[in-house]
Amino acid sequence: MSTCTDLGTSEVAQHSVIDPAILYFGTPVALLATVDEAGHPNLAPNSSIWWLGQTAVVGIAARSQTARNLLAVRECVINLPSVMEVDAVDRLALTTGRTSVSERKSRAGYRHVHDKFAAAGLSAAAADRVAPPRVAECPVNLEGRVRTLHPLRGAADPTAADLLAVELDIVRVHIHEHLRLAGHENRIDPDRWRPLMMSFQRYFGLGTEAHPSLLSTIDEDWYRG
Ligand SMILES: Cc1cc2nc3c(=O)[nH]c(=O)nc-3n(C[C@H](O)[C@H](O)[C@H](O)COP(=O)(O)O)c2cc1C
Repeated sequence: MSTCTDLGTSEVAQHSVIDPAILYFGTPVALLATVDEAGHPNLAPNSSIWWLGQTAVVGIAARSQTARNLLAVRECVINLPSVMEVDAVDRLALTTGRTSVSERKSRAGYRHVHDKFAAAGLSAAAADRVAPPRVAECPVNLEGRVRTLHPLRGAADPTAADLLAVELDIVRVHIHEHLRLAGHENRIDPDRWRPLMMSFQRYFGLGTEAHPSLLSTIDEDWYRG
């Protein structure tokens, strides 16, 4: 029988019941670029994100500047940093584009930053199909349009919610050329793509490949429908 831990024995580990304050078990870090109604850009780290088909879903605190911008302008660029861009990501931690920082966030050390690109030392590049800018240094830029803002935890509508799940249609994908799988027009080489991961508020890279993948015997084009 196999185990899910590093026990080094054939014993199965026993579970304990705990009550963790956060459930951040490890997801990729994204930098969400949005604009307000006046066109001012904002950039915020986010790691509550997943994809299904050409849809991305982002989990976001409704009082953030990013959520406000998404409610108002409904467009976004999901910029995916690699482990190489971790310094820039960390420079944006504990910052907000909101001019008034809530008492709760202020207590945690958050401060207002007007120009997030400058604060991070990152460069803005024009997107093709949406108003918010791309981050030139991030190897992957996903241009997205908001399809729906889902209020979480039973709120009546997105403006009354504390947390939102933002459903985005991805309408354009940009990659740094070195990520392209050799010989393929539209594929990414997972040996070259080194996403930055966040686990329980700390940054990690991916380890080495764990096991041959049965799923990967499916040709990627099958997923087009
Ligand atoms: C690595 C990292 C991951 C984060 N993930 C999320 C997240 O998934 N959802 C969220 O609402 N905030 C997340 N945050 C916190 C936001 O970045 C923070 O609330 C920020 O103030 C939002 O900026 P804004 O108000 O300018 O939009 C994360 C922060 C860091 C550094």
